[in-house]
Amino acid sequence: MNPFEKLMNRYRDLPPVDLTQGRSIAYSRSNTRRIMELMDANSQGNVHGGVIMRMVDEAAAVVAIKHSQRPYVVTARVERFDFLAPAFIGDVVTVHCTMHYVGRTSMEVGVEVTAEDLITREIRKIASSYVIYVALDEQRKPTQVPPLVAADAEEARIIERARLRRAHRQKIDDELRRAQKEAETF
Ligand SMILES: CC(C)(COP(=O)(O)OP(=O)(O)OC[C@H]1O[C@@H](n2cnc3c(N)ncnc32)[C@H](O)[C@@H]1OP(=O)(O)O)[C@@H](O)C(=O)NCCC(=O)NCCS
Repeated sequence: MNPFEKLMNRYRDLPPVDLTQGRSIAYSRSNTRRIMELMDANSQGNVHGGVIMRMVDEAAAVVAIKHSQRPYVVTARVERFDFLAPAFIGDVVTVHCTMHYVGRTSMEVGVEVTAEDLITREIRKIASSYVIYVALDEQRKPTQVPPLVAADAEEARIIERARLRRAHRQKIDDELRRAQKEAETF
C-alpha cells in the first residue's frame, strides 16, 4: 500500500462521537513549541509573520480535532491576527491554544503566542489570534460536534465572551451582505 492510500484508509471507519457528552475547555487545550531557525527569519534575524501564522493554524487545528474527535477540520476564518512584538532566530516560540466557543459544527480557538529567549529566559507575548474551524464528515460536509461545557467559572467567562464575539461577528457579516446587495441593485 502506498503512503497516500494508507493515509486515506486510516480514518475509513471513524469511531462514533457521543454528541450528548459535553467537553470542557481543559479537555482539548494544547501548546505547541518550536525553536526558530535560519529558514524562519529574514536577513535581520526577525521571524517572518507567515511562519508564526502557519504555526498558529497547525496548533489551533489540534484543539479543534481533539474537541470534535474528527480528523477533518478546515479553517473557516482567522478572526483577527495581532503581531505584538518580534521573535528572533534562537527563540522558542510557543503557541498556546484554547477552545473558546463551539457552535453546531464550528469551533473558535483562542491563540496566544509567546517567544522565549533561552539565555535570559525572558518570555514575551508576540501575537494573538482567534481561529474558527469547521468539522467535516467523511463526505466533507459540515458535521455536528460535541458541545463545550464550562468546568468552572473561568471557563464560563471565556465561553460567554466568545459567544458575544460570535454574535457581533454575525451581525457585521449580515450588515456587509446587506450593503453588498444594495450596492449591486444600483
Ligand atoms: C468552512 C466551510 C466548510 C463552510 O461551509 P458552508 O457550506 O458555508 O457551511 P455552513 O453554512 O453550513 O456553516 C457551517 C458552520 O461554519 C460556520 N462558518 C462558515 N463560514 C464561516 C466563516 N467564514 N467564518 C466563520 N464561521 C463560518 C457557520 O457559522 C456554521 O457554524 P455553526 O454550525 O457552528 O452554526 C466551507 O466554506 C469551506 O470548505 N471553506 C474552505 C475551507 C478551507 O479550505 N480552509 C483552508 C484549508 S484548511
